[in-house]
Amino acid sequence: MDDYSFLGDNETHWTQAIRRGYAMSFLLFAFHDNGVFDEIKNKMPISSDQISKNLGLNKKVLESGLNFLVNSDNSITKDEKGNYVMSKRGEKRLYSDQARAMSIGAIGAYHTLLTNYSSMLKNEKTYGKDFIRDGRLVAISSVLTGKSNYSWVAKKFRDLNVDTVVDLGCGSGDIIIDFCNRHDTFNGIGLDIDPAAVKVAEENVKKNNLNNRIELITGDMLDPKTYSHKISSKGDKVAFNAIMALHEFLRDGEEAVINVLKKMKKEFPESYFILGEFNKCSDEEFQKIPIYERMHMLFYQEIIHGLTNQGLASLNTWKEMFKKADVELIEYKSDFPFRLVEYVLKF
Ligand SMILES: C[S@@+](CC[C@H](N)C(=O)[O-])C[C@H]1O[C@@H](n2cnc3c(N)ncnc32)[C@H](O)[C@@H]1O
Repeated sequence: MDDYSFLGDNETHWTQAIRRGYAMSFLLFAFHDNGVFDEIKNKMPISSDQISKNLGLNKKVLESGLNFLVNSDNSITKDEKGNYVMSKRGEKRLYSDQARAMSIGAIGAYHTLLTNYSSMLKNEKTYGKDFIRDGRLVAISSVLTGKSNYSWVAKKFRDLNVDTVVDLGCGSGDIIIDFCNRHDTFNGIGLDIDPAAVKVAEENVKKNNLNNRIELITGDMLDPKTYSHKISSKGDKVAFNAIMALHEFLRDGEEAVINVLKKMKKEFPESYFILGEFNKCSDEEFQKIPIYERMHMLFYQEIIHGLTNQGLASLNTWKEMFKKADVELIEYKSDFPFRLVEYVLKF
């Protein structure tokens, strides 16, 4: 599966593709985050003067960035009057989930991992102590990667006849909002430790008019006692969901994850817990994935998780952890995109 045409035919292709990608990545993030792409898409043809006035941005900085894009990509072009226009192909690509997940997540939330990489390498800086990711952007971007699982999981909760679904590490709230919008048979609670994420979630719940069905809590899922009293008053049958959240504790070893599961089992006996996690990839497995598809997963595993000291586990390791925590694995589905596996557990 070695399609290395991706890497170019010679050192000029290879180096200049890296240079282009390096600049493009920051421009994509900044133009999405500051509404520049929205302005062009909705008001084209539009001048840099108008965009900068509408958004309160520095015109010269904006113009240089847009001119780089115009001459290195075919998503934005300039008409004869010098106004910017978004091509149909540009609209499709710039607004794709893949492009937004990459620009908001990999770049916006996590670029500090690479700008600080050399200092980390020399032990001059440590992630978590000297700098951290941007929680707001993590929340907004994670949903773009995990959302193809939501309908399957929401249906499971409906079939299990639960009254309340608690989404642990709820991020932007999109997951619990999606579940509640799909089925009106249960209410939701979203819990996250990051106040910036909970703020985004509050805005999203309000936008979806779900304030009467979804409650948001800033809290630590590591300590079920801190939130169990809020939950027991909500309904009789409580079930839990966590997508790409539990592995964060692998930074403290498998024991940390096993302990959370044990504590939850004690606090919520007989409850269901549906867990969505990336299936960690070996080098041999990576080599078998076509290189374009490989990149997102490789970045997720080695850059995002490797450099923030978060662990990831393979399907087999997750199974072993469930066994050690004495929770029952009722079923799992392992063919979701992005190597995501959903495990249905019963405490
Ligand atoms: C990668 S994001 C996933 C967000 C969301 N589940 C999704 O799939 O879109 C992980 C989330 O877990 C949250 N988190 C990390 N540690 C936590 C803890 N101890 N208690 C609650 N939430 C936590 C983070 O703040 C972050 O929002």
